[in-house]
Amino acid sequence: MEISTHQEPFIYVNDKRYEITRDCDPEMSLNDFLRDTLNLKGTKVMCREAGCGCCTVCAVYKHPATGEIESKPVNSCVTPLYSAAGWHIVTIEGIGGRSQSAGYHPIQASLADGFGSQCGYCSPGFVMSAYSQLRDNPKATKLEVEHFFDGNICRCTGYRPILDSMKSFACDAGKAGGCLEVEDLERGCCRSQVGKVPTSGVAAIARGWKGQKFYNPGTLKELLTLLGRLRNDNYRLVFGNTSSGVFKEDAIADHYVNIRNVPELYKIEETEASLEIGSNLTLHDLLVLFARVANDNKQAGRAYLGQFSRHLQQVANQAVRRNGCWAGNLMLKLAHPEFPSDLFVLMAASGAIVKVADSIDGGAAVQEYTMTDFLRQDMRGRVVTSALLPLSGGVGQRFGSFKITPRALNAHAYLNAAFNVSVDSANGYTVTDRPRIVYGGVCDKFNHAVKTENYLQNKSLIDQETVNGAIKVLESELNPAEEATWSSPQHRRSLASNLLYKFILGVASAALPAADSSGAQVFVRRVQSAEQDFEQEPSELPSAPLGRACPSPRPEDRLLERLSTSTMLLVGAMSCLARSYSPRRLRLS
Ligand SMILES: Cc1cc2nc3c(=O)[nH]c(=O)nc-3n(C[C@H](O)[C@H](O)[C@H](O)COP(=O)(O)OP(=O)(O)OC[C@H]3O[C@@H](n4cnc5c(N)ncnc54)[C@H](O)[C@@H]3O)c2cc1C
Ligand code: FES
Ligand code: FES
Repeated sequence: MEISTHQEPFIYVNDKRYEITRDCDPEMSLNDFLRDTLNLKGTKVMCREAGCGCCTVCAVYKHPATGEIESKPVNSCVTPLYSAAGWHIVTIEGIGGRSQSAGYHPIQASLADGFGSQCGYCSPGFVMSAYSQLRDNPKATKLEVEHFFDGNICRCTGYRPILDSMKSFACDAGKAGGCLEVEDLERGCCRSQVGKVPTSGVAAIARGWKGQKFYNPGTLKELLTLLGRLRNDNYRLVFGNTSSGVFKEDAIADHYVNIRNVPELYKIEETEASLEIGSNLTLHDLLVLFARVANDNKQAGRAYLGQFSRHLQQVANQAVRRNGCWAGNLMLKLAHPEFPSDLFVLMAASGAIVKVADSIDGGAAVQEYTMTDFLRQDMRGRVVTSALLPLSGGVGQRFGSFKITPRALNAHAYLNAAFNVSVDSANGYTVTDRPRIVYGGVCDKFNHAVKTENYLQNKSLIDQETVNGAIKVLESELNPAEEATWSSPQHRRSLASNLLYKFILGVASAALPAADSSGAQVFVRRVQSAEQDFEQEPSELPSAPLGRACPSPRPEDRLLERLSTSTMLLVGAMSCLARSYSPRRLRLS
């Protein structure tokens, strides 16, 4: 395949290069292009909100800053076609199929053999999620494989057979399975075939029939020049565009500016005092980075990043975390202050500072804001460039965060919270500095529990009176809004005080009786396993030929044979399933 450097918009799909005409609609999604233009209907579409996963495809691309070849699952329904320019997209048709010389891909075969596909509508999404993530992490464990699918919804089969089929590719699957061979991992697109993503300076790469334009700048300077020009127009920066799955109406603009290919926005810099994270880092990048920083260097001020990382695993789903950046998440909070952003809660409790560049001075003077001040900014003509996370907390620093949701994964919070206190454990767990207590999901104006923060200063957390007092103050300052789609104000109010109580139990657990400190425990989901029995009650089965065993050739068998032969004459029939195909007992682990 040709290594691509020129400026025309193009895309590779399953090893073929396609020019994207410049007058294609800039709002066209990758999904529409695959299904309607290329007629690749294997990729499905349903919610168009990055929420169900049936539209998942694999994107293989060169990282704009590191130059590494990476692959990730992408929700094609929210990905603008033009922001995928230069990528190599692998769809379900690209990895295997009945009519292909290599046959089905092992993941497809395993799903079918494991009875993991019923109506089949979700199956391409499950397969492509597995394929993309195994490409990236071929040595995934069973637990990791289970987490691959937090953004894939199956409406009819049920998850046990699906997970069982997929877990057979885990490195710890034992004799029952094992990792994929390299050639299977790279079926559809081999790493050496991926070229450089083309960028286009400040010229538009596409122009729609309504006059909308799409830009693809390749440097921060080009981006700021463009923002200077578009400052007073209806424009939108696009990174993952996943926020269009949350607030659809926000996604419509006259000008779209793709910021993915701006290398300066991928900065990572760790010093003694802080960790600087570029605004183009995805939620997945942060999850991995924070776990590493917390583990590599056991200094006290870095420990909280471990909890930050674990919390991120509960945000959205794999494809959104791999495509959505943290700055896009904060901008959602800025535009919709009622949105229970997990990133905002975590960063505000950490004491993060957000850096913003302005097109007015070409980014010469970068402004710095606390999280609360950031929410008051007019961001027209400006771009978030990075954030500083403090690493200077002392040994007494305790950080905790929680998220209460309608279901465990892929759901916005009813209420989320993060707490950051410094305590002197030798002195009755006295709070030494002003703590940070931040909530999301209360109402559009409430973030910091300021009165409770003031109240707790210099108080001992093992004093029952302090705890009762803190909860009383908290309840007095909380005024959860009534909203049809949220849980009731009473529910969220009691969640808020229970979470503060749980956090305090955790901080002071060493000084508490076991019965009390057990209240601080957080339940961790382990690898799931299950076994399913299909009981048969012979008296309830219909009479022959269905439902009865056929030990020897009899008239019924001949009837079955004839039925099967005539079925196979039907156009499109692939095989005839006799009763013997039905699994009497499936083992799932
Ligand atoms: C199914 C689903 C579940 C979700 N669940 C959660 C959840 O549980 N918790 C949670 O907190 N969030 C959740 N989200 C929100 C998700 O985290 C955000 O959609 C994502 O982080 C946005 O990033 P993006 O790159 O896609 O932004 P985009 O959609 O590309 O952009 C969003 C906005 O940010 C602006 N923008 C982007 N980058 C910059 C920048 N550098 N400077 C200035 N402006 C910028 C854009 O102009 C746009 O207005 C969920 C989203 C989905 C779709
Ligand atoms: S159609 Fe549901 S995630 Fe794309
Ligand atoms: S097999 Fe029908 S939706 Fe999953």
